[in-house]
Amino acid sequence: MKISIIGTGYVGLVTGVTLAEIGHEVICIDVDAQKIEKMKQAASPIHEPGLSEMMARNIAVKRLAFTTSHQSGFEDVDVIYIAVGTPENEDGSANLMYVEQAAKDIAENVVDDVTVVMKSTVPVGTNHKVKEQICNAVKGRVKIEIVSNPEFLKEGSAIEDTFLGDRIVIGSDSMEGAMVVAAINEPFGVPIYHTDIKSAEMIKYASNAFLATKISFINEISNICELVGANIENVASGMGMDNRIGSQFLKAGIGYGGSCFPKDTKALIQIAGNVNYEFDLLKGVVNVNKKQQLLLIEKLNQCTDKIEGKRIAVLGLAFKPNTDDMREATSILIVEELIRQRAEVVAFDPIATENAKSILHPLVVYAASVEEAVEGSDAALIVTEWEEIRGINLSVFQKMRRPLIIDGRNCFSLDSMKEYPIEYHSIGRPAVTESVKLPY
Ligand code: UDX
Repeated sequence: MKISIIGTGYVGLVTGVTLAEIGHEVICIDVDAQKIEKMKQAASPIHEPGLSEMMARNIAVKRLAFTTSHQSGFEDVDVIYIAVGTPENEDGSANLMYVEQAAKDIAENVVDDVTVVMKSTVPVGTNHKVKEQICNAVKGRVKIEIVSNPEFLKEGSAIEDTFLGDRIVIGSDSMEGAMVVAAINEPFGVPIYHTDIKSAEMIKYASNAFLATKISFINEISNICELVGANIENVASGMGMDNRIGSQFLKAGIGYGGSCFPKDTKALIQIAGNVNYEFDLLKGVVNVNKKQQLLLIEKLNQCTDKIEGKRIAVLGLAFKPNTDDMREATSILIVEELIRQRAEVVAFDPIATENAKSILHPLVVYAASVEEAVEGSDAALIVTEWEEIRGINLSVFQKMRRPLIIDGRNCFSLDSMKEYPIEYHSIGRPAVTESVKLPY
């Protein structure tokens, strides 16, 4: 099938490249000419394992192309995917400016019948409005089908998730549209769930909100574990063995970040609010996350007389490992607060440093390794559980001025920490201090 994709952000690019990989002829459209030129050379604008190689392979066999022109991008296509961003408005609702622009571009340029597939995360009812917008503005007798096909991929494992996903959701009000999208996706071999458009739109928000709820829930349990002397790792393992609960997304830490959970939880609260429904549970999830994100600072304040003038190593900046994405990363809030309290911040991240530089305070100093970051520091805060951090030889922390680790991602086992004269605080587990002979 000949497919055109509007938007080459995370979702659009991965969708385009993987659809080409399973044999479709794909053309990706973006307004950013510089980005398009780079992608024509198979240079991926995002760090995603396996993506560049797959891009190169499909460009070479002419199954994948890039353009800034909607007119040529829509030429002879059977299907157009909308995969543009839906950023957060100030009140938490989803900003549909780019989706509306995509609808306008489709209406102005298509000359034949086409199926429009919505990949962007949009509030319930948006697909119907987009169809209406296109139908009202399109020239000539062109038949438009619209299908909701939300995206569930995770950054860092996007390709794997596409080929080994749990389900593909297809929301359509017509059999014809549903069959077209099912046929496109069939080679992935992933189970397909057919439903109506509004339910498909809701499935995306409800899934992300549920996962965020699991995280905030386990984070609250971890805070209680600390107070009663239980160990969150043992608690999560025991809970996760119950199939009704499931073992995933029970990793306690310093809250969720990224481009989806923070935005989608707030958008769902708004969606409910628009129909006069107070989503109290989800409001709680969002509030718990806010509190959890500053937990390391709270713990640091309990361990030290004052933060001012202290050299603090911040280990990991990306919102999670295996990505250079800094969107809504917990590190942003932590670094901001450290700088506000006049600490000297030395940060390390294996790949997000360049992105971090444009976001974090200019006073932050960047180290090239964990060792360089911690040397001479008064505390090390672990923010992202990169393998480079989890796998480090613990003796490097002995080079700190004060060997104090506050670990927001439970990277090290308590037993291994007991072997070193290092003070170790983590999330929902007892602190390790007994083996430490502190000169303070
Ligand atoms: C998420 C959803 O998983 C995906 O289905 C959706 O399409 C987009 O949003 P992503 O943002 O890439 O994907 O990251 P994910 O791996 O889900 O992690 C999100 C955040 O939750 C990260 O900050 C991570 O550190 C945190 N998290 C995740 C936890 O704190 N504990 C967990 O157990 C799992």
